[in-house]
Amino acid sequence: MNLDWDKFQQLSPQEKAPFFQRNGRPYHALIAQQFERPFLDRLCELATRTRRIAKTRGGRLFLQDLLSDKRAMLYFAQPSTRTFLSFYAACQIVGLQPAEVRDTATSSELKGESPEDSVRTFSSYFDVIIMRHPVGGFAERIAWMLSNTERSVPVINAGSGKDQHPTQALLDIYTLQRSFERRGGIEGKRIVFVGDLARGRTVRSLSWLLLQYPGVRQTFVAPDALQIGGDVLDSLRRAGAAFDCTDDFESVVPEADAIYMTRIQDEWDTNRESARLDTSRFKFTAAHLARLRPDAILMHPLPRRDEIAVACDADPRAMYWRQVRNGMWVRAALILILFDREVEVDRYYEDLTR
Ligand code: NCD
Repeated sequence: MNLDWDKFQQLSPQEKAPFFQRNGRPYHALIAQQFERPFLDRLCELATRTRRIAKTRGGRLFLQDLLSDKRAMLYFAQPSTRTFLSFYAACQIVGLQPAEVRDTATSSELKGESPEDSVRTFSSYFDVIIMRHPVGGFAERIAWMLSNTERSVPVINAGSGKDQHPTQALLDIYTLQRSFERRGGIEGKRIVFVGDLARGRTVRSLSWLLLQYPGVRQTFVAPDALQIGGDVLDSLRRAGAAFDCTDDFESVVPEADAIYMTRIQDEWDTNRESARLDTSRFKFTAAHLARLRPDAILMHPLPRRDEIAVACDADPRAMYWRQVRNGMWVRAALILILFDREVEVDRYYEDLTR
């Protein structure tokens, strides 16, 4: 990227997106703005094919051989259970050997090394860096920095600050697509986001991806202080997408095709300000199930606190545990795309289904 960092940083996400592509495909996976509809359709198809292939021992061994000559660094400088393990398992599915740094207190960052130098070290040993970091845009900075070194490797953003969580959004799209397969797809559906939309990065990334599906209406339900950012609304306006913001959860429950609940992200509080907010109206209780359409779905990126009553888990419309499983397949498919191994998967799949 022959643009200095200050200039690069000032670009809008859409302007940055082309810098993360090579030969018409993503090289890094950093922001939702990189992913357009043909890519999303392809990723979902590849995830399903990989999943199908993995049903037999022969298929699993075939997949494990695809990237067995490569290594991945999972650098997670922020708490994570699902995303970390999901990537770990995805690496194992495609044979990529994973290594991890999860606690910067055990790395040379404690000796005063900059995170940039740490990651540059990883790039000397590994073929892809999968990273989560509390600073928004930090994964982009790393990709920018590495691209100006002799050993650039792909960087996958596994969550950056309050800003983006593109691979969560990809697995959410996969879940929506599978759920609405018999209802004409994601097009034209009403997707309702609830909770801490100001600081929830999964919603910010998913909202952008939904612009790729004509006719989708996005509804943002939150207390004023936690409402979705103006930049997201500007993107919706520019795209001519339908949307509305409200704090009246009750009235939208029966209208929703998908309800996407989120947790209050109080780790970002400076002075326990979210504890003072009344968030009791932004929870999905067992009583709401009766008001939810029979063909609607209930989603959550997890971890949950009490935004969704545990009693809802057994309802067939509850998708959050499926999201977890879908995430592993989507991430495996994403890795295969980044390493350009789609053709082999397609060939194996075609033989299998012939
Ligand atoms: C989310 C995250 O880390 O942004 N979790 C996840 O990766 N599935 C949501 C959250 O922490 O609330």
